[in-house]
Amino acid sequence: MNLVPNLFMCLLLLFTVVAGETLQPAFYGKTCPKAESIVREEMRKAMLKEARSVASIMRLQFHDCFVNGCDGSVLLDDTPTLLGEKLSLANIGSLRSFDVVDNIKEALEKACPATVSCADIIIMASRDAVALTGGPDWEVKLGRKDSLTASQKDSDDIMPSPNDSTATSLIDLFQRFNLSTKDMVALSGSHSIGEARCFSVTPRLYNYSGSGKSDPAFEPLYREKLTKLCPMGGDENVTSGMDATAKVFDNQYFKNLVSRKGFLHSDQTLFTSPETREYVKLFSENETEFFKAFAEGMVKMGDLQSTKPGEVRLNCRAVNRKSY
Ligand code: HEM
Ligand SMILES: *[C@@H]1O[C@H](CO)[C@@H](O)[C@H](O)[C@H]1NC(C)=O
Ligand SMILES: *[C@@H]1O[C@H](CO)[C@@H](O)[C@H](O)[C@H]1NC(C)=O
Ligand SMILES: *[C@@H]1O[C@H](CO)[C@@H](O)[C@H](O)[C@H]1NC(C)=O
Ligand SMILES: *[C@@H]1O[C@H](CO)[C@@H](O)[C@H](O)[C@H]1NC(C)=O
Ligand SMILES: *[C@@H]1O[C@H](CO)[C@@H](O)[C@H](O)[C@H]1NC(C)=O
Repeated sequence: MNLVPNLFMCLLLLFTVVAGETLQPAFYGKTCPKAESIVREEMRKAMLKEARSVASIMRLQFHDCFVNGCDGSVLLDDTPTLLGEKLSLANIGSLRSFDVVDNIKEALEKACPATVSCADIIIMASRDAVALTGGPDWEVKLGRKDSLTASQKDSDDIMPSPNDSTATSLIDLFQRFNLSTKDMVALSGSHSIGEARCFSVTPRLYNYSGSGKSDPAFEPLYREKLTKLCPMGGDENVTSGMDATAKVFDNQYFKNLVSRKGFLHSDQTLFTSPETREYVKLFSENETEFFKAFAEGMVKMGDLQSTKPGEVRLNCRAVNRKSY
């Protein structure tokens, strides 16, 4: 072997180490020791004000991390020169509770100015959303930087639609991010808390796969209930929990899938499809298994890093300088 390729390999290795931040639990141990308790307290306040808000925050981790890594890109507002992710197909009229992120950021800026990234806020707050609603608690790794840009196109290309997602397409999507089938099924259990709009279920109720009929996978009484809540041509902004206990993080979501009372097509397909059914059964029968797999999946998803340069934003909705 000659020296040149070896040197090249060394440089490559060095570059990857420098390019990614090293995430670690104690990242703010010296610079902002109260960061995690401040975030939890703000999340507690948000939950008291509106129970659903914590679920809405937890969803942000998925929509942030899958689009160019966990870099707070989902939080950027549109500007004349930036088409952000808030108006992408999966996000428009749907992602919410950005004001809670603003409140958390404000509290952190007061305690430790220009220190804690918005990307890390999403990771801490998502963990807190689960812990505060009765789910597992876990250690988060911190030290992410905030993006200088966002991509509506990437969000459109990547984020799954509730309409046509099959177990196979979801397995493939998550695999692209090194998340296993088990991770994917467990992470779908996030739908144990929060709400979804009629908009996300009407195709399934009235024109499943263009058939002009409803999805045969529905349990009949549940379908009847949903057709009352979401009549054809009705207000598509009306919402429903995605399981029977939408304020509590538990394994009820999986029990509902087993009894064919899943709300989204992407939910019910996890029980209908042989590739994922055994995990749904396992999690429906053993909440401990679900909690363990969910926490592991969230940590793995949180490890998805951006490869682009970043900063610690002062306002989560905008980059610090106008022109990068
Ligand atoms: C597996 C693929 C997934 C699909 C197709 C999907 C799709 C959806 C859809 C369509 C909604 C309702 C949106 C609306 O009607 O406005 C929703 C809500 C939600 N999703 Fe997912 N999701 C997936 C995975 C995840 C993951 C991995 C997480 C987080 C770890 C997550 C967290 C949530 C939460 C918490 C809500 C409720 C939000 C609220 O109440 O504001 N989802 N999801
Ligand atoms: C539903 O909400 C969106 C924005 O979130 C709004 O533009 C639309 O007018 C609402 N539709 C109804 C029927 O209220
Ligand atoms: C679901 O399909 C309907 C009808 O095909 C479409 O109008 C709607 O935009 C789709 N919803 C999502 C979230 O992709
Ligand atoms: C998935 O893992 C492989 C092998 O460790 C790595 O090269 C790749 O960058 C990872 N992909 C993502 C999206 O993290
Ligand atoms: C159902 O979907 C099919 C194919 O997407 C479409 O051609 C048809 O017009 C739809 N029917 C209704 C009632 O919306
Ligand atoms: C549930 O899973 C946990 C962790 O794997 C295990 O220790 C426990 O025995 C299981 N409980 C039941 C009822 O199978």
